[in-house]
Amino acid sequence: MVTWYRLFIKDLVCINPEVVTIHKNKVILSAGTDLGKCIVAWDSIAHHYVVVPSEGGHVDFPVHNQEEFSKESVMSERVATYPIERIILDRWSRRAMSGESIGDQELMRIFEAARWAPSAHNDQPWRFIYAHKGSATWQMFFATLSDFNKTWAKNAAVLVLLVSKKIYEWNRELPNPYYSFDAGTAWQNVALQACAMNLSVRCMADFDRDKVRQDLGIPDDVSLEVMIALGKPGKKEDLSSQLQEREYPSDRKPLEEIVFKDKWKR
Ligand SMILES: Cc1cc2nc3c(=O)[nH]c(=O)nc-3n(C[C@H](O)[C@H](O)[C@H](O)COP(=O)(O)O)c2cc1C
Repeated sequence: MVTWYRLFIKDLVCINPEVVTIHKNKVILSAGTDLGKCIVAWDSIAHHYVVVPSEGGHVDFPVHNQEEFSKESVMSERVATYPIERIILDRWSRRAMSGESIGDQELMRIFEAARWAPSAHNDQPWRFIYAHKGSATWQMFFATLSDFNKTWAKNAAVLVLLVSKKIYEWNRELPNPYYSFDAGTAWQNVALQACAMNLSVRCMADFDRDKVRQDLGIPDDVSLEVMIALGKPGKKEDLSSQLQEREYPSDRKPLEEIVFKDKWKR
């Protein structure tokens, strides 16, 4: 199966923007499930690309200035099908981080945002343990990351361990079935706030939880959820070539695949 990523090119003018999908040097036009052909041309007077629908299949870009096109052919902007708040679209998980430090005042703004997340019984089961680069705890957190995550998280100014309490505080007898769900809402607030502050932020599931639990003496009724890397934005070129290719805002499934009216659908 071929996966077509939806890429949006700056200065691209589409005849029908909702149905144009662009992948590397190919453009496909989808009307419902039908794929149609389209032609991309550089309008040298108006200074933008124009996408014109044609017949079925897909075509290579017949652009006049291939070099110029390649530069532009990374997704620069996400586009929503329906109007939503800008910050939701602008948030994405950047890996490129500069290694510069982030001050505690700035950091607290991020945790403040997390504090206002909703939770079952307003029990607020999330807890954040943070460490600045250069500290022994940062080093310990870093050592527990998977080799893959180490390749980019090495430049994180701050590593944050997000944990969640599995037993309610309002009733110490009751397990909280929503501890992980609630920690997820807190993470989303962290991500949105960090992006709004123009910081790079990405969370990681791949780390050695047993080692962190042991080193920090975290009890068994607390779940280790994710490790969060935070940093000032770095240069894409500082990432491995494999990661540079993936350093752009990803797309999402269409609404029809995730929203069902009246009934369950596979
Ligand atoms: C629970 C969770 C675990 C994740 N673990 C990792 C990870 O170990 N390494 C990594 O590079 N990204 C990780 N990510 C980032 C996701 O890959 C990323 O959020 C997803 O591709 C969507 O991209 P976006 O956040 O830029 O919209 C994780 C995200 C979540 C929510």
